[in-house]
Amino acid sequence: MNRSIEVTVNGAHHALTIDERRTLLDVLRSDLRVTGPKYGCGLAQCGACTVLVGGAPARSCVMRAAKANGAEIVTLEGLSDPVSGTLHPVQQGFVDAAGAQCGYCLSGMVMTAVALLENESDPSEARVRDALKHNLCRCGTHKEIIASVMRASELMRRERPAKAGDGEPFSDGGADARRSEGPRA
Ligand code: FES
Ligand code: FES
Repeated sequence: MNRSIEVTVNGAHHALTIDERRTLLDVLRSDLRVTGPKYGCGLAQCGACTVLVGGAPARSCVMRAAKANGAEIVTLEGLSDPVSGTLHPVQQGFVDAAGAQCGYCLSGMVMTAVALLENESDPSEARVRDALKHNLCRCGTHKEIIASVMRASELMRRERPAKAGDGEPFSDGGADARRSEGPRA
């Protein structure tokens, strides 16, 4: 059955009529040509498709697009400054610490790290490892990825003073997505 939804993606408003069974990842990539989020497993297991929905990380391969109706969605494309092109500190952290080989996992890693660092400005390395443990890198770049997030944390602390809410629990959205949406049909 078709359904009309409205979403804001990286600041741009979209009104769409979609089959209500379609995933958010499919709609982002196929309809809106937002290709930062990647299709990896399709089962909420690898994190390649992670985007922010209402500020929280979500596995868009198993989230129905209809469920995002009315939501603000941010993808990798929405992180840099649209005027100056200046990279988000998390993107810069990955550049500085060479946190990618093929780059397929990169979008999901970056978006998960953004969600973590927006909530916790000074996480320990162990905390970063824990937050990213459900994001998989098939190239085995995990060491550099952790270093990238630690570098991003440093850059963000330089740019932004500590804010109220620091230390609130972080969720990578994967477990919630698996419970609420189930595997892709
Ligand atoms: S594509 Fe692997 S978690 Fe979504
Ligand atoms: S850099 Fe290739 S999958 Fe992570």
